[in-house]
Amino acid sequence: MKVLVTVGSKYGATREVGAAVAGVLRDNGFEVDFADACDVASVRFYDAAIIGSAVYGGLWRKDASALVRENAQMLRGRDVWLFSVGMTQVTKPDQPLDEAEELAVAAGAIEHKRFGGTIQFEKLNVGEKALIKAIAPPPGDFRDFEDIREWAETIAERLKEDAFA
Ligand SMILES: Cc1cc2nc3c(=O)[nH]c(=O)nc-3n(C[C@H](O)[C@H](O)[C@H](O)COP(=O)(O)O)c2cc1C
Repeated sequence: MKVLVTVGSKYGATREVGAAVAGVLRDNGFEVDFADACDVASVRFYDAAIIGSAVYGGLWRKDASALVRENAQMLRGRDVWLFSVGMTQVTKPDQPLDEAEELAVAAGAIEHKRFGGTIQFEKLNVGEKALIKAIAPPPGDFRDFEDIREWAETIAERLKEDAFA
């Protein structure tokens, strides 16, 4: 079974979440391609896809959202999971992520999961630094890799069930 794990990530935090998910799936014996969403031309070659994105201004990164929109019909015929990585998961966990929820419906996703993220202040551009200074979110890395790997294990179990169904 061939699985795609792909992410929209600006500063690398979400890419590391995707890499952790891909690692768990590989450890479970799946053939996994892991790539940035901008480098994925099609989901055609995969039996399942896990697609994630960092959240900026409440929205997914364009490469990841475009990949879902452009491949929505094909995704609906596959096992699909989406995940969002963002700071509102930490500061306002009930903040709606309407776009991601809409993408989950379009792709017929089994689940849309939210994970905490991290802000690497030194990497931000001038405008982002000003915005983040004004918002003053809590400093730190809120990605819980144990939780992330646990989630990936549930995906692996589901894929194994589906493979032998
Ligand atoms: C300018 C800016 C805007 C952001 N907007 C949001 C947001 O609307 N909601 C959210 O949950 N997180 C927001 N974040 C937090 C990022 O999603 C978080 O830092 C994420 O881990 C970044 O992932 P990346 O390194 O893969 O780009 C924002 C961060 C920055 C710098």
